[in-house]
Amino acid sequence: MSSTRPRWGPLTSFLFLSPLFIALPWFAHKHQYTLPVPNSDLYHPTTNLPLISESAILGYAKYLSEDVGYRTPGTREHALADAWMVDKANELKAECDKLVKDQGRKLECEVWRQEGSGSHRFDMMNKRLYKRYVDLSNIVIRVSDGTEAGKADAVLVNSHLDSTLPSPGAADDALAVGVMIECMRVLINTPDWSPKHAVVFLFNNAEESLQDGSHLFSTQHPIASTVRAVVNLEAAGTTGRELLFQATSGQMIEAYSKVPRPYGTIFANEIFSSGIILSDTDFRQFEQYLNVTGLDMAVVGNSYLYHMRKDLVENIEPGVAQHMAENTLALLDHLSSASSPLPTLTDGYTKPTTVFFSHLGFFFVYSFATARALYTALFVSSVVLVRIVATDYAPALRRSTGSSIWHDQMKGVAACVAGAVGAIVGANVVALLMSDLVLGRPLSWFTSERAPVLLYAPAALTGALISQLPFGPIHEKTLFTSQLLLTSFLAAAVQLAGVGSSAMFFLSSLSVFASLIVNAVVVNANRKGAKEGEVSLIAYAVAQSVPLLTGTQLVTATLDVFVPLTGRIGSDAPAEHIIATLVSSMTAYTFSLALAFVHRFGPRVLRRGIVFALLVSGVSIAYFAQRPVFDEMHQKRLFVIHNESLDSKEQHLHIAAADGAPGFDRLVKDIADKFGADDVPPRAVIMDDWNTDWDTLYPFSAFLSPYKIDLPLDPAYEAPWPPAERFAVTAVDNVVDEVQGTRKMTLKIEHPGIIWTVITFDAQVVAWELDDHPPTEFARHHIKEASFYGRDTWTLNLTIKLPNDSSTSTATATTGATTDIGGLKVDFIGIQERRMWPGKKADSDGSQAMKLFKAFDEWLEEHEGGTVDAMILGCLSGSAIV
Ligand SMILES: *[C@@H]1O[C@H](CO)[C@@H](O)[C@H](O)[C@H]1NC(C)=O
Ligand SMILES: *[C@@H]1O[C@H](CO)[C@@H](O)[C@H](O)[C@H]1NC(C)=O
Ligand SMILES: *[C@@H]1O[C@H](CO)[C@@H](O)[C@H](O)[C@H]1NC(C)=O
Ligand SMILES: *[C@@H]1O[C@H](CO)[C@@H](O)[C@H](O)[C@H]1NC(C)=O
Ligand SMILES: [Zn+2]
Repeated sequence: MSSTRPRWGPLTSFLFLSPLFIALPWFAHKHQYTLPVPNSDLYHPTTNLPLISESAILGYAKYLSEDVGYRTPGTREHALADAWMVDKANELKAECDKLVKDQGRKLECEVWRQEGSGSHRFDMMNKRLYKRYVDLSNIVIRVSDGTEAGKADAVLVNSHLDSTLPSPGAADDALAVGVMIECMRVLINTPDWSPKHAVVFLFNNAEESLQDGSHLFSTQHPIASTVRAVVNLEAAGTTGRELLFQATSGQMIEAYSKVPRPYGTIFANEIFSSGIILSDTDFRQFEQYLNVTGLDMAVVGNSYLYHMRKDLVENIEPGVAQHMAENTLALLDHLSSASSPLPTLTDGYTKPTTVFFSHLGFFFVYSFATARALYTALFVSSVVLVRIVATDYAPALRRSTGSSIWHDQMKGVAACVAGAVGAIVGANVVALLMSDLVLGRPLSWFTSERAPVLLYAPAALTGALISQLPFGPIHEKTLFTSQLLLTSFLAAAVQLAGVGSSAMFFLSSLSVFASLIVNAVVVNANRKGAKEGEVSLIAYAVAQSVPLLTGTQLVTATLDVFVPLTGRIGSDAPAEHIIATLVSSMTAYTFSLALAFVHRFGPRVLRRGIVFALLVSGVSIAYFAQRPVFDEMHQKRLFVIHNESLDSKEQHLHIAAADGAPGFDRLVKDIADKFGADDVPPRAVIMDDWNTDWDTLYPFSAFLSPYKIDLPLDPAYEAPWPPAERFAVTAVDNVVDEVQGTRKMTLKIEHPGIIWTVITFDAQVVAWELDDHPPTEFARHHIKEASFYGRDTWTLNLTIKLPNDSSTSTATATTGATTDIGGLKVDFIGIQERRMWPGKKADSDGSQAMKLFKAFDEWLEEHEGGTVDAMILGCLSGSAIV
């Protein structure tokens, strides 16, 4: 290497480049998080044209989430939200009718309050699950030009009015409800606007109960068959731009390119459709039952508050509503216009074959075919370029004289691959160190989406540098050329395999390609007689530009989603390794020329670099090992079920967490000491499909690591629950067919005052109304119910195989035959509508249980310094042989 030793040492060179390393990520970061300025005017002060008003949107969201409150399907509040929305829809219709009357506009607004019952299969997390719903509702408004032709092809825009069990749901999804109301107001008040194609606004009132509302609309609403495309508006967070994360046709991606502030990438799309986020939206029902294409968008920043008490308007970042609404408005305007693709959208939904990504405010869209051609061309050009610019170092450096520059390139590629692998291994070694096995400090970075970079980037650097030791000296320029060969090859190969995310390799190849040309020019111009093979620092700047910009966006967007997610994926999930792998692979991408830079200075600097990286890693580990995992705005989720038995007057608390952070055992012990019966320690409970305690949360219950605490028997115990509450499962209309060995019956579940009921049983089902193909073997079945407030009965018709030993019994085909035909054991559980904390805090029924919840919550707040968000449910459960 001595022949080409650079003039500047490593430190000076690094300082020379550092402004770029600060400026580009800063710039990309700024772009990533810039939101529009919120507007509060309903009409433009001078033109008097209607404007999207963030204040109006947040006003609706605040009303729903605070004045109405926790809108869990089946609760009184849920019914209040329904009534409010019906009024609002009729108000909008009246406004619309007036415009038609006064201005003679070609406009028609129609309102429906759809109510219906149904059932659907809803497999999740590899579990088979059925949903049953009774009298749930949707509010639907169709805005059209009033003609049949105008109503033939419609775009559906959907949000949900309800909120999930432990959350007031301001961002999720009252924000989107407000956005839709505002979009409708602006559209109908825009002079001369008339939709060529109808817009259907669906305010669905049961998403969180596993998408019953959208199922109801898709399968039963009279205008469902006119829907050609769906725009779904969701939230799993409270800050940042609304992300497009599912797009299911080229035409809809093209339509999205019309929005004022596009934010979406095929990368997010491919990550989401891989299923690793373990999340789903109404989009699934629209695909499954309407077979239509669409766009699925959500606010995803600060996902810590997702499904938590603090999902409140005060925590929604200013500009979020404005961004979401302006993009939605532009989409609806375009899709309802004469240039809309709606009538042609008859091919159902597909995995996108269009590459799309927003980059620093620009939105790029091109077909997979273009991508294949483009990336292949770049790879071929790269090979040619490398052949031209690569230097043959053979005479001085190589033992074998017969090898060509391609031998060097192969070694370079091996070094690049080793670097990336080394980075991932390095980070995972530290992850192992932080995990339960060694230090017992997992999730130490949880309170900040960026923090894992501080812990795992130094570890990744250490690993990458160590991986270079076996290679000995390699010329830095060889790493440039082989990096180009590798990434341009990956771009083409991954795209040929049908994965559009390869665009990120394409982008970074472009800048390395450019850097090699720039280098040839600069080196030739500046240094007459310069040694062949020298790499100018300018070339580093050029080569790193795209990886720094793209990588920053990738790292920030990915960690925004994945870091908060680790607080709810269960204690058994390898959270530490997931985050370590994400950080290390993406930092390797972002600093793709780091290895070339180290090789520039030879093996001695490499070894010093390793020592330095190890030191930084050590300091970082030491810092994170003592960092508290949770704080007030990044809380631990605690799930608490209170259970009282009518017969024994026993009460239990079931307590579970959904994360692997340290300290849970201690917390449970403290709770038992404070509230539990004397001398009965908390018991860890096994979580499986037969654990019925947590069926209310099935199948998410699989993430929980539960404990059971016995509560003391209270001598002054009152009536355990209001007489209005009752819960019973019976079988009616029994018909036994001894020849076939089957039993036909209707299971009747009566649950006044109880909501979200779940029944589970083991049986070989021959036929039922839930799906056409029940499993052909003896199996466990989970059926969950959600109904409108006040609906207190649901039924299930089914035919099961009789147990073998009972076929000789004297069963008669009459109602009420039970034990003599073997009997079916049905476990059931449900939530007492008036005993949900904090949802029912305001109208507590003064019961023993609610007093306990209040005391428990206050104690927890104090004891944990506000770092825990507990959902407490009063449950009723039992089992019946029917
Ligand atoms: C959706 O519609 C397309 C076009 O009519 C059809 O090819 C496809 O099989 C349908 N998919 C489903 C799941 O029904
Ligand atoms: C509630 O307690 C009863 C009686 O102790 C028990 O049979 C039932 O399984 C419990 N249910 C839950 C959800 O803990
Ligand atoms: C269920 O069975 C009852 C009679 O047992 C019958 O009246 C009802 O129509 C059935 N429902 C369905 C959906 O098959
Ligand atoms: C019941 O009998 C059938 C046929 O004799 C047999 O195939 C099946 O395995 C038996 N089931 C049980 C649960 O014993
Ligand atoms: Zn939602």
